[in-house]
Amino acid sequence: MTPVVEVRADSAAVGEAVAARIAALIQGNASAVVGVATGSSPGPVYTALARRVADGLDATGVTWFALDEYLGLPLGHPRSYRTELLDNLIHPLGLDPDALWVPDGAAADPDEAARDYESTLAGRRVDVQVLGIGRNGHIGFNEPGTPFTSTTHRVRLTESTRAANARFFTAPQEVPHECLTQGPATIMRARRIELVAFGKHKAAAVARALRGPVSEECPASILQRHRALHVTLDRGAAADLATG
Ligand code: F6R
Repeated sequence: MTPVVEVRADSAAVGEAVAARIAALIQGNASAVVGVATGSSPGPVYTALARRVADGLDATGVTWFALDEYLGLPLGHPRSYRTELLDNLIHPLGLDPDALWVPDGAAADPDEAARDYESTLAGRRVDVQVLGIGRNGHIGFNEPGTPFTSTTHRVRLTESTRAANARFFTAPQEVPHECLTQGPATIMRARRIELVAFGKHKAAAVARALRGPVSEECPASILQRHRALHVTLDRGAAADLATG
């Protein structure tokens, strides 16, 4: 199916547009299941959702599933994705932390933790999955070359992804080397996908994902095969679509 591509003036407007669709979903289904990404891109979506909750949206019945988590950070570490989602989504929306599911990055057996997360997800169909995209076309932590058939699994991060994420840590060497991530096959099971991207530095990845060949060398290109993909971009991230 051809994705819907929507270009908005700035990241706040992107956040508003995506939050409006998620809010409508929750209004129609109080026990909706929402898949959530971390990093910079979904921030404006969560900010806009919090505003809607302050204005009366009831999200108390929603279940939230994280895309990924670092391996090796202790529970409660300030840079863990669990902490990030509690700080930026669950607490601002006034929700119970038990509504948030995150792969167990502190598990003694990470491969077993990946299998457990996949089987939990398999029993709970995700209604909408929010995604960002990496400059190398990754989604979740599925780096180029990840088989499209992969489900939740353990990943060694590339140095480019570790470098990109170093901005969230006090020193680059603190960025973990491994993580657990939903695989492309897990992500594709979501009923709807909301991909968000901001800034010129994402333009090439967005263009490859949406206009390039569907290839494991660009993990996000698998989204071209999704039946309900909505892409919301600021003008910078859309720049290479307009000219290409
Ligand atoms: C985060 C995730 C990653 C990010 C991507 C873009 O949960 O899964 O794929 O979405 O690295 O990161 P930002 O939004 O920080 O540019």
